[in-house]
Amino acid sequence: MCGIVGYVGSQSALEVVMAGLKRLEYRGYDSAGVAVPADGGLAAAKKAGKLVNLEKELTERPLPTGTTGIGHTRWATHGGPTDANAHPHLDNAGRVAVVHNGIIENFAVLRAELAERGHELFSETDTEVVAHLLAEEFSVTADLAEAMRLVCRRLDGAFTLVAVHADEPDVVVGARRNSPLVVGVGEGEAFLASDVAAFIAHTRSAIELGQDQVVELRRDGVTVTGFDGSPADVRSYHVDWDASAAEKGGYDYFMLKEIAEQPKAVADTLLGRIDAAGSLTLDEVRISASELREVDKVVIVACGTAFHAGLIAKYAIEHWTRIPCEVELASEFRYRDPILDSRSLVIAISQSGETMDTLMALRHAREQGSKVLAICNTNGSTIPRESDAVLYTHAGPEVAVASTKAFLTQLVACYLVALYLGQVRGTKWGDEISAVIRDLARISGSVERVLETMEPVRELARSLAGKDTVLFLGRHVGYPVALEGALKLKELAYMHAEGFAAGELKHGPIALIEDDLPVVVVVPSPRGRSVLHDKIVSNIQEIRARGARTIVIAEEGDEAVVPYADHLVRVPVTPTLLQPLVATVPLQVFACELATARGNEVDQPRNLAKSVTVE
Ligand code: G6P
Repeated sequence: MCGIVGYVGSQSALEVVMAGLKRLEYRGYDSAGVAVPADGGLAAAKKAGKLVNLEKELTERPLPTGTTGIGHTRWATHGGPTDANAHPHLDNAGRVAVVHNGIIENFAVLRAELAERGHELFSETDTEVVAHLLAEEFSVTADLAEAMRLVCRRLDGAFTLVAVHADEPDVVVGARRNSPLVVGVGEGEAFLASDVAAFIAHTRSAIELGQDQVVELRRDGVTVTGFDGSPADVRSYHVDWDASAAEKGGYDYFMLKEIAEQPKAVADTLLGRIDAAGSLTLDEVRISASELREVDKVVIVACGTAFHAGLIAKYAIEHWTRIPCEVELASEFRYRDPILDSRSLVIAISQSGETMDTLMALRHAREQGSKVLAICNTNGSTIPRESDAVLYTHAGPEVAVASTKAFLTQLVACYLVALYLGQVRGTKWGDEISAVIRDLARISGSVERVLETMEPVRELARSLAGKDTVLFLGRHVGYPVALEGALKLKELAYMHAEGFAAGELKHGPIALIEDDLPVVVVVPSPRGRSVLHDKIVSNIQEIRARGARTIVIAEEGDEAVVPYADHLVRVPVTPTLLQPLVATVPLQVFACELATARGNEVDQPRNLAKSVTVE
């Protein structure tokens, strides 16, 4: 959480930093601030609330112009979202300013030590101690990078820190432990940010920072060292998406744009995976075929929407490979002493590649000797870097907090991994794999068709804006789809929404049914596994008999549901295992429209953040 930007160059630092913060606002949006060394001093401004409050403050009380600056958009951890708690934090002399993402766990001890030495701290944050410690170290070293290294060695926890000092006005210093920070290198200028989106308009040349590294940015170059001062090897890379990919492109919200991009995202994630002989090739999988043949258990760890992708993957992995597969919330997995060994394959799914719970889970798995495969959307992020192998989803940048296109591409990646395991272990024949790949290749067109027919879903959503509760039911892979539909509605519409396995209805949830309660039912294909289909048709009848208003998502041509559907949403014919790729889409549109109808902020729902980098 929290977005950080730093700049040194010849442009107006405030303009660059504010534009960068706009791109990072999805990471946190409860307060924001900037600092600029100028005229021999340090000027700073910060405001609680969204970035627009800071913009207003800067218009009313402009800061002096400078060509070095830092900025921050916050998602509160320590201390509420007030002006005082907003970043940057300054030392008592107002000579050093620092912004921070993460949690400094030993801040209370450090704060007490600082108080004893006569420092006055004004905020409730863990960050403020860093400004004071930097000031102390700088008074001895007169070198901000060295001061940062010395301070970092005293900090426990997860932190990205970026600082400027009035006495070194052409320098920005950053430090990274466990939270994201990337460097952008331009002509006579350099950038620091939590995400490349902040500087992509200026440069596509980036440097990944490793764990426990400090970077010093000057106009003419970038120096990276370890916390101990030793020179560090860095990996440079080219960012392969451009600024327009991070713009709304004519849509009112990023979420709408990202929903619309799903056909392309799905197709892109399949690109280049099939070789000339029709076999699957997953080049980024650096775990050998013999190691994969030894695997006797797959464990998927993830959070939020990515966890739902994992729940769906289990059905495909077990069906196609016959390897037992467990799926667990990363936050639960880590602390329950899971049984793992070198024959367990752990799959970590994460759009951002920075979710702290997922990162901690994969570290634990690797400590137990398990191989870890990451499914991730963000090149160069921490989770893939710390994994044995990675399969990148090619969704492009996802900005809206509620995940949509990343989810669909995570599913595609999961199916590919399942097929790949089946191929390597010989549990799937080549022609069977080719048949699934052909089905997957058709999904992009199917999602396109779903998107073309969403007007009735939007209308229905608007008509339900006054409701308090919506329930979601599904069976088999439709069950995680129901969970995802409910999560979307909670995140966006702030409504009570719950997903249930339709078979569990009689064991409790049916008691919730009352007159005109909207219940969304995800119906599996009537082909192939018709038992599943028949059972859910019975469930629809059961809830309808008790007054529910049924919203049925069913395949084209499925006539059996027609008599029991108050609202019928058609999706193209799709094999049951792949159906989540099409059935989820109306639920995304439904939640987005309901949120709009209720006057909610679609891209930045209250209390949420896109990337949760604290445990
Ligand atoms: C946050 C986001 C969710 C996301 C989850 C996991 O809660 O708001 O949309 O699904 O984190 O994020 P990840 O980046 O690991 O997929």
